[in-house]
Amino acid sequence: VEKPVRHFRSLRDLEPDDLRALIEHALRLKSGSEAVGRPLEGRTLAMIFRKRSTRTRVSFAAGISQLGGVGIGLSDEESHLGRGEALADTARVLSRYVDGILIRTFAQTEIEELAHHGSVPVINGLTDLLHPCQLLADLLTLREEFGPELEELRIAWIGDGNNMANSWLNAATMLGFELRLAVPEGYDPDPDILAGARAGGSVLLTRDPEEAADGAHAVCTDTWASMGKEAEAKERLQSFAGFQVAPETMEIARPDAIFLHCLPAHRGEEVAEEVIDGPRSRVFDEAENRLHAQKALLIRLLK
Ligand code: CP
Ligand code: NVA
Repeated sequence: VEKPVRHFRSLRDLEPDDLRALIEHALRLKSGSEAVGRPLEGRTLAMIFRKRSTRTRVSFAAGISQLGGVGIGLSDEESHLGRGEALADTARVLSRYVDGILIRTFAQTEIEELAHHGSVPVINGLTDLLHPCQLLADLLTLREEFGPELEELRIAWIGDGNNMANSWLNAATMLGFELRLAVPEGYDPDPDILAGARAGGSVLLTRDPEEAADGAHAVCTDTWASMGKEAEAKERLQSFAGFQVAPETMEIARPDAIFLHCLPAHRGEEVAEEVIDGPRSRVFDEAENRLHAQKALLIRLLK
């Protein structure tokens, strides 16, 4: 019998124990305690970017190269996707050349389409709905800071109920930590993901950033206008007034609380400069952890 193809369309493609093991593997890869060699020698990853990227693109390209494989970047402009070639055909063709397909795009349905029509693992490099690769890095950062008992943590999300918020909800459901989201009315996370998290975990949705930050181990935020929402940027600036992660917000969190942001950041909007550039900020460790976590993911999916 043929083995089913493993995808990473969402964190939920992993079992909670697999997720924990992947984080521990990433930690060993980062510390160098495990000699990794070149397990992906001869393997190729196609990387389709239908939105901008700095971290995702470079961390995946560098990561697969460090493991002995090769990453090939594609955009709409450079490929036939921009001229309307069907995603289904693109999936069928790329599957004949490469061992995995990473895609960053708008609709989550495009991920499903690639997985359905292709025959190699598909990795979600961010959609409007989810950003699971970022959560791998964020969980690794929490693991480094607070140890392996992630279920004992309280995490605050302050800002937009966007792809990152949805992915935090998935992570909370899977790992059992407490998640408190402070989101202005009209910007709530995905209702199905929220409902799932409410059923399976400890989740609080509030309009009050202080209630979310209270006693948190980590305070997390993201841009108020994600890619694709640029036209709403001005309106959002008003809707999110009062939701900035400021030094006073960090005061309400635990004394050892850290600040996380997937980047790119807008200093003076979702986060005060003193916070993101201050002693509690771990944003550059978090960015580095993209590399280590995704190397563990690539070994799992492509080896
Ligand atoms: N955090 C993140 O995904 O960054 P990029 O948009 O630069 O890939
Ligand atoms: N929520 C942001 C994350 C960028 C890495 C966006 O989707 O643009």
